[in-house]
Amino acid sequence: MITTYSGRDLDNLIIKYFFLRFNVSSTEIALDKEITFTRNNEILLIEDIKKINNNVPVQHVTYSEFFYYKKFNLNEHVLIPRPETEELVSIIIKKEKNNSLKKIIDIGTGSGCIAISLKKHLKSEVIGIDVSNEAVLIAKKNISEKDENVNFMNIGIENYNPNTQFDIIVSNPPYVADNEIDSVDKIVLDNEPALALFSKGDPLYFYKKIASFSDKYLKNKGRIYLEINDNYLSGVFDLFKNYSSEAIKDIYGKDRFVVCEKP
Ligand SMILES: C[S@@+](CC[C@H](N)C(=O)[O-])C[C@H]1O[C@@H](n2cnc3c(N)ncnc32)[C@H](O)[C@@H]1O
Repeated sequence: MITTYSGRDLDNLIIKYFFLRFNVSSTEIALDKEITFTRNNEILLIEDIKKINNNVPVQHVTYSEFFYYKKFNLNEHVLIPRPETEELVSIIIKKEKNNSLKKIIDIGTGSGCIAISLKKHLKSEVIGIDVSNEAVLIAKKNISEKDENVNFMNIGIENYNPNTQFDIIVSNPPYVADNEIDSVDKIVLDNEPALALFSKGDPLYFYKKIASFSDKYLKNKGRIYLEINDNYLSGVFDLFKNYSSEAIKDIYGKDRFVVCEKP
């Protein structure tokens, strides 16, 4: 089946495509700047349009996405970084920006977008863990500068017993409940890894794991920053009832983030 785009969606798609594929900015497009294409670029463009029409996300056609001022490499083994998650990074950076060195762990790091962005913008030591080895390989590939040096490890949260404690735990875990599958767009289901989307039959599975991890490995006064499924806010709050917790809405007005501080 051919995917059709129109109106604003089509405009956004074109802008994103030209930027990710050919580094042509939206301003250059708006100003009708003339772009000279090589024959190879033309061939690539035609192939890419075929893929996009066949329900492949533009980020998988270009193997990249822009996240918090940086282009990240992607493939079909990692979640495409979302704008909501950029909001989470922005919340953390605002709240934690001071001169003390922070030990940070990103649980379910995927492309490494959260871990690398935090490392770049906070004085920190950052570890990113993921149960998917393919994801860890992509995350490592995304370290391109010295100030992005994150220690990525291929391990599940269930088996990770570090010999240190953290100032900050951050996670955007898989949070789509099995019974919500019908509300997930086909393009997402067809192209993004189920391992990154679904929460093992229990919508609170990963939050429970993070809660017991935090009991042991989060320093007193340390903070947890979570992206959540807005349908399970009260369940997440219950898990962290001994912490002082705050819910924050995303740009769409949904309860999307929870920040918890350990007493
Ligand atoms: C929603 S994605 C988030 C990816 C990335 N942090 C982001 O925000 O774009 C969740 C990630 O959790 C990983 N994951 C799934 N089960 C896990 C587990 N048991 N332990 C650690 N990571 C896990 C998946 O492989 C996936 O990369």
